[in-house]
Amino acid sequence: MKKVGNHNSISRKLLFSFTVMLTFSLTSFAQDAVSAEATEAPVATQSADPVKGKELFNSNCAACHKLDAKSTGPALRGIASKHEMAWLYKWIHNSSEMIKSGDPVAVKLFEENNKAVMTGFPQLSTDDIDNIIAYTSEEKAQAPAPLPGAVVAGATDQGGISNTIILGALALVMMMLVVMLFLVNKVLTKVAKANGIVVADKAASTPIWKAFAKNQFLVLVTSILLLLASAYFVYGFLMQVGVDQNYEPIQPIHYSHKIHAGDNEINCKYCHSAARVSKNAGIPSLNVCMNCHKNISEVAETTATPEYSKAFYDEQIQKLYTAVGWDKTTQSYTGKTQPVKWVRIHNLPDFVYFNHSQHVTVAGIECQTCHGPVETYEIQKQFAPLTMGWCIDCHRKTDVKMEGNAYYTKIHEELSKKYGVDKLTAAQMGGLECGKCHY
Ligand code: HEC
Ligand code: HEC
Ligand code: HEC
Ligand code: HEC
Ligand code: HEC
Ligand code: HEC
Repeated sequence: MKKVGNHNSISRKLLFSFTVMLTFSLTSFAQDAVSAEATEAPVATQSADPVKGKELFNSNCAACHKLDAKSTGPALRGIASKHEMAWLYKWIHNSSEMIKSGDPVAVKLFEENNKAVMTGFPQLSTDDIDNIIAYTSEEKAQAPAPLPGAVVAGATDQGGISNTIILGALALVMMMLVVMLFLVNKVLTKVAKANGIVVADKAASTPIWKAFAKNQFLVLVTSILLLLASAYFVYGFLMQVGVDQNYEPIQPIHYSHKIHAGDNEINCKYCHSAARVSKNAGIPSLNVCMNCHKNISEVAETTATPEYSKAFYDEQIQKLYTAVGWDKTTQSYTGKTQPVKWVRIHNLPDFVYFNHSQHVTVAGIECQTCHGPVETYEIQKQFAPLTMGWCIDCHRKTDVKMEGNAYYTKIHEELSKKYGVDKLTAAQMGGLECGKCHY
């Protein structure tokens, strides 16, 4: 049998292509690493310690002051250039006394701020105050803020890594397949020529595949690449199955349950208070939001993630302000409101009756049983399938909470006798009757 193909040269060329591919991906990783380092802005150094100052500021002053925006008190960045240090010590130690003593600057300030009283901080040493002032004297960190609104999931530099890499790898795989086919073709033609075979158009196509099949190395590499590529597509496909279940619409305000119910541990029922007492859990009115957001007009630096920048989050809070007509510079309502149209996620058909209080209060079921780990959702979604089978399945499996519920004591006695069991499931209580769930 004649040996077909120049095995060695093909594998060397393949090796070369691999090396090229690796080099490409490594350089792109390296670039990401460099740009990540470059974003850490250098911090101005001074004799007083701005880091300690930041701590003191956050624990003592942040309730009323922000660096760059008016809050209860004026913005404090660059305050050192507005007053003498001596004045500042006196003011921070006891501002009321200064106002009483008739210091013209203090009195004017007091009038300008609607006579809001600043707490005195006699416990702060002049060193402490120096540190705080050093902190307020720092240049505003120029974060490479993306254009407002341009931040869509996955569109930021870091968030894009995985997608870009995957797409790049796929493109390379495709390219390599083409290159391989080309090489095989070339080698075969060479071999054919060397053996004095005339390559007829038709005859050529079969030998290529035969040759390919005989070259074990080539077959192995191709199979691996094809497997990798198809695994990627199959995974993508599987992630789309049951789209209805993971329905995750884009809301008019990017509101994160992770930040509120997770990081800040706000109780679900603080906002969805109706869940306990009525059929619907309800979406909170924007006034509920303003209980906190009169004072929270921006998120902490640490809240920002690679996917969502601080600028993006701050803009979302601004959308809330626009909706309720809150002017954060004057700290007052303008009267111009525009309702936020939240996109409804969970929606049972009209012919089904579902009652929250029955499940939350009477049955004592946690929100998470039906809605999933909401406190980890950056974007709210539908966790359960909400099919009839899902309701029935749980009614079959879940025991009704009888203890301490006088209403059940008698029914319990009768029914447990009837079924000869100690515990009753929701199904045995009538939870499978069509009329209970269907009007
Ligand atoms: C309870 C709210 C509150 C706290 C806490 C507070 N301030 Fe104030 N601060 C104010 C108000 C209000 C004013 C405006 C003057 C007035 O109405 O008394 C002000 C004014 C100032 C001014 C003058 C600003 C200007 O534009 O001239 C400085 C400086 C200042 N505060 C520093 C501090 C520092 C430093 C801390 C923390 C150690 C602090 N404040 C904590 C409410 C507060
Ligand atoms: C600070 C207020 C707040 C808190 C706390 C809160 N939510 Fe929400 N929730 C909202 C708002 C606003 C929406 C509408 C926007 C959205 O869907 O993201 C919503 C939407 C939802 C939805 C989807 C509603 C639909 O359209 O079908 C569910 C389910 C939900 N919340 C469950 C929970 C659970 C469970 C918790 C506790 C772990 C919780 N929420 C805590 C404000 C809150
Ligand atoms: C109990 C207090 C509280 C309530 C009520 C509240 N928030 Fe917040 N909100 C916070 C805190 C705390 C943060 C995070 C601040 C930080 O990370 O520095 C925040 C952050 C945000 C952000 C930026 C992060 C994000 O989720 O995108 C938005 C937007 C926001 N809130 C909107 C709302 C809306 C809309 C409501 C009403 C449905 C609401 N908040 C109700 C306390 C509250
Ligand atoms: C037994 C399952 C179950 C439990 C427990 C449950 N929910 Fe629901 N929830 C649902 C279903 C089903 C819907 C859809 C209702 C509809 O479309 O009429 C829903 C809808 C919602 C909605 C959308 C608005 C509405 O009222 O229809 C919110 C918000 C919500 N739930 C929050 C909560 C919160 C908060 C808790 C915990 C206090 C909770 N749910 C507990 C099953 C549950
Ligand atoms: C996580 C479990 C669970 C899921 C999911 C669930 N239920 Fe229930 N349901 C219960 C329990 C437990 C009870 C009994 C409550 C009680 O003590 O009366 C109950 C009671 C009921 C009742 C009152 C039955 C009676 O005998 O009066 C109705 C109606 C009902 N559920 C409708 C639904 C519908 C509709 C769905 C689906 C959209 C659903 N449930 C999903 C656990 C569940
Ligand atoms: C525990 C609550 C519950 C009980 C009991 C229940 N159903 Fe349903 N049923 C549902 C829910 C929820 C849906 C909506 C499913 C969906 O939208 O996919 C539904 C949908 C249906 C549909 C529409 C078919 C479809 O897939 O859209 C029919 C018909 C139906 N039910 C008949 C019955 C009959 C007959 C009984 C009594 C043997 C019954 N159901 C008992 C909750 C219930």
